[in-house]
Amino acid sequence: MRKSQLANWLFCFCMSAGMLSCADKNVETGSLHVIPQPQEIVEAPDDDPFVINSSTVVCYPQDNTKMEHTAHFLASYIKEMTGTEVKVSVDKPKKNYISLELDAENPHKEGYDLDITSDRVVLKGATEAGVFYGTQTIHKALPVTDGKTQAALPAGKVKDYPTYGYRGFMIDVGRHFFSVDYLKEMIDVMALHNINTFHWHLTEDQGWRIEIKKYPKLTEVGAYRKGTLVNYETQEYDSIPVSGYYTQEEAREIIRYAADRFITVIPEIDMPGHMMAALAAYPELGCTGGPYEIPMNFGVFKEVLCGGNEQTLQFAKDVLNEIMNIFPSEYIHIGGDECPKERWRECPKCQAKIRELGLQATPEHSKENQLQAYFMAEVEKEINARGRKVLAWDEILDGDPTKTTVITAWTSPKAAVKSARLGHQTIVCPITNLYFSNPGYNRLKGVASVARVYNFNPSSDELTADEKKNIIGVQGCIWTEWTKDSLKMEWQMMPRIAALAELQWSAPEKKELSGFLKRLPHQLDLYTRHGYHYKQDIYDVNIDMKRSESEPGKAEVTFTTFDDAPVYYTTDGSEPTSSSTCVKLSERISVPDSVTIRAKAIRDGKESEITECRLKK
Ligand code: ACM
Ligand code: ZN
Repeated sequence: MRKSQLANWLFCFCMSAGMLSCADKNVETGSLHVIPQPQEIVEAPDDDPFVINSSTVVCYPQDNTKMEHTAHFLASYIKEMTGTEVKVSVDKPKKNYISLELDAENPHKEGYDLDITSDRVVLKGATEAGVFYGTQTIHKALPVTDGKTQAALPAGKVKDYPTYGYRGFMIDVGRHFFSVDYLKEMIDVMALHNINTFHWHLTEDQGWRIEIKKYPKLTEVGAYRKGTLVNYETQEYDSIPVSGYYTQEEAREIIRYAADRFITVIPEIDMPGHMMAALAAYPELGCTGGPYEIPMNFGVFKEVLCGGNEQTLQFAKDVLNEIMNIFPSEYIHIGGDECPKERWRECPKCQAKIRELGLQATPEHSKENQLQAYFMAEVEKEINARGRKVLAWDEILDGDPTKTTVITAWTSPKAAVKSARLGHQTIVCPITNLYFSNPGYNRLKGVASVARVYNFNPSSDELTADEKKNIIGVQGCIWTEWTKDSLKMEWQMMPRIAALAELQWSAPEKKELSGFLKRLPHQLDLYTRHGYHYKQDIYDVNIDMKRSESEPGKAEVTFTTFDDAPVYYTTDGSEPTSSSTCVKLSERISVPDSVTIRAKAIRDGKESEITECRLKK
């Protein structure tokens, strides 16, 4: 990891650079083993590092505005990590520079090469995006010195490019609203993890969040609800109104902010289900005509858009046309998930449409599911006519959708296998591993929490090599039923997003949990430096307790922490302290199978929460 070294030679260097004040500072050198782990790293540990000081210049090619922005980003990251204000210029000095350059020979669209010597850093990207990812690597390779010691980048070379072209993160703003400024912060978190797609889930039963000029009631009515279910068990509601929507200009501001960070924003208008907010605004779009109320609770509602009504289809097309006017993304997400067909089975308009289209039930696809496929295909034509492509959730596979539909496979890892086998381009985001808001998985602590993400294989071995080519991306998702505020948003995201980043970017054949965990502490330092509220239970102990097969009445116990911190435990129910028994992490202990183990990790005097484990009788 990071090395501290007293750089005697620095004295002369600083003198010549006119920086007497830094002469007596230690130099702290970062590490190229960042998250996500680059494809290839060649370290030169015997060579002097590149030391950053106030004379360092970040250079970019003249007349390249994108790289000028990136150069300023890099200067701001350096300031944030090290406290040093570097210069930004098109003019390259003889040495002490970080040069951002383009390399047309690099075959990887988002790839970059980094070459670091004591004199200079050369970062060559295949594209401006590649250069941006290279600056993110420099950002994360810097030590967090905060001006106390002098920061340096280690000498060496990096050759890097992503494994997946689509690296996504989804945020639902329908259930709870998050401000433009806060979404910008979350976009910064995505950028820190080399994510290139922000999937913005803009509409839900509980709130419509994007201004549509042709249908003003969508936001006048649809963006407000009276209160929220706050406890699923007790069915308790609050009466705090939830409101908010993004004007089209604000959405454009988000798109620009993300684009500066090489992130594409994909909007989602979820249809024909999850439309209660729209139905409350325009009840004529439903099968029964309403009235409808915006729900304060969560789940799957039987009230959906009418699938047999031309007016409804026109509504969908109008909305998506306005959306395409705002969002330049290649993909437009049209939802398609969780659309019960109860109303459609009873609705004269839906049934008339089924007859008109001559839809017949098959063993795989009900008539109503085929009506949904028809509805989505009509919408898709509108989207394709403007040169865009459709993304939809995997339930639409129940209705035999057009093969051009790209699938976000969420219901299970098997859904991605099914989708890829059916020939659909597929983005893998199963609820079991990549939903960061799932209450069950949120309870996982310590290594278990990040391992659930890290150990997931997005490209299932059940697929043939050809089928695997249909897996075009990997995505994490945060649904906000139970995510009201920034604190919860952030702890759900971090540090699991670091594990996600490695699935999306790093070489799967080099994947190794223990290596990831070694890189993680520095990422946590970065989160702290940036003021992000990451999940603190990463510091907690995982206990594995099994009944002994060889010794009746005994249990075998092992402990894990992500950073191999010392673990202290008790077996008598008392609180573990630094005077309790300390265990080595590789050690297996034997205890009576009736005891309760309580364990805590202590790092530099800082104690984790207690983890408790007992065998079931
Ligand atoms: C989903 O989680 N309903 C896509
Ligand atoms: Zn209907």
